[in-house]
Amino acid sequence: MATALERSGVEELDRLKHRVATLEQLFEVYERTAIEQANKLEQLLEERKRAERELQKHKLHLEELVAARTAELRRANEQLKIDIAAREQAEQELALKAQELARSNADLEKFAYVASHDLQEPLRMVASYTQLLARRYKGKLDADADDFIGFAVDGANRMQQLIQDLLSYSRLTTRGKALELTETRRACDIAVKNLRRAIEESGAKVAVDDLPVVLGDVTQLSQLFQNLIGNGIKYCSDREPEVRVAAKTNGPEWIFSVRDNGIGIEPQYFERIFQMFQRLHTRKDYPGTGMGLAICRKIVERHGGSIWVESQPGHGSTFWFTIPRAERTQP
Ligand SMILES: Nc1ncnc2c1ncn2[C@@H]1O[C@H](COP(=O)(O)OP(=O)(O)O)[C@@H](O)[C@H]1O
Ligand SMILES: [Mg+2]
Repeated sequence: MATALERSGVEELDRLKHRVATLEQLFEVYERTAIEQANKLEQLLEERKRAERELQKHKLHLEELVAARTAELRRANEQLKIDIAAREQAEQELALKAQELARSNADLEKFAYVASHDLQEPLRMVASYTQLLARRYKGKLDADADDFIGFAVDGANRMQQLIQDLLSYSRLTTRGKALELTETRRACDIAVKNLRRAIEESGAKVAVDDLPVVLGDVTQLSQLFQNLIGNGIKYCSDREPEVRVAAKTNGPEWIFSVRDNGIGIEPQYFERIFQMFQRLHTRKDYPGTGMGLAICRKIVERHGGSIWVESQPGHGSTFWFTIPRAERTQP
């Protein structure tokens, strides 16, 4: 018979056993979780290491890239310095050449002026005496003599015309007036008036659209219009000549056009016709000295513009020239 004490001891022991079992269970759970956590941690650590290794690799690559790029930039910079030096030298040489050119141009102009001016006097003498010979002895010597005298008169006249044109070319700069506000319409009207005879004889129609006010030299501008309109009338086909003068704005400049319905010009001559004494026709077909367009170009350039032609043989020509807009060039 167990005593009460023994019973309570056994009960106590059972409770203890139960507790130990519970603790063991708990411990097991803790242990499992701890292992899981440790595994996870290890995994994380591994991942981190891998990431660090990756990073290191990228860093190295980046450093290489930066080094390569820096070297490249340095090289480019050095090349640029060399290029700049070469360019500066080229610019200096160009400036020198421009100076030389300006001087030689000035010399040439002076020469053209002196030559044409001084040639005028003896030439006048030749011309007037050959004319006198022609008047006095025509029909009195033989037929050959008449021809010869005729050729001499013709040659002297032509030479006078050439020299006069050369002189007016060189006077464009020496006698050019200061540029002032000028109605180009007025310059054009003067030109048309001067061409009245040619217009009447050819039955030409000359139309002039609205024209602007520019900074210009009215005498030279009318000379410009006269040469261009005159050519438009002169180089006509069998149709009645029609010439139209117009102007439009284009940004900072005016673009003028003188359009005709004449014989036109082959593209390979578009540049050449603006040179002195360059003609595409014989005097028999169309009279002239070949100075007109050279004079036109010089006038346009003196006004700060440029001149060119567009044409199709058989379909007329358009001469274009620009002049800066007055409000832009005024001081
Ligand atoms: N409107 C035009 N149509 C066709 N040809 C032209 C025209 N204007 C000029 N030309 C050609 O350009 C040449 C040079 O013209 P220019 O300098 O005015 O000299 P010129 O009229 O005295 O011959 C002319 O001989 C002609 O052959
Ligand atoms: Mg001409």
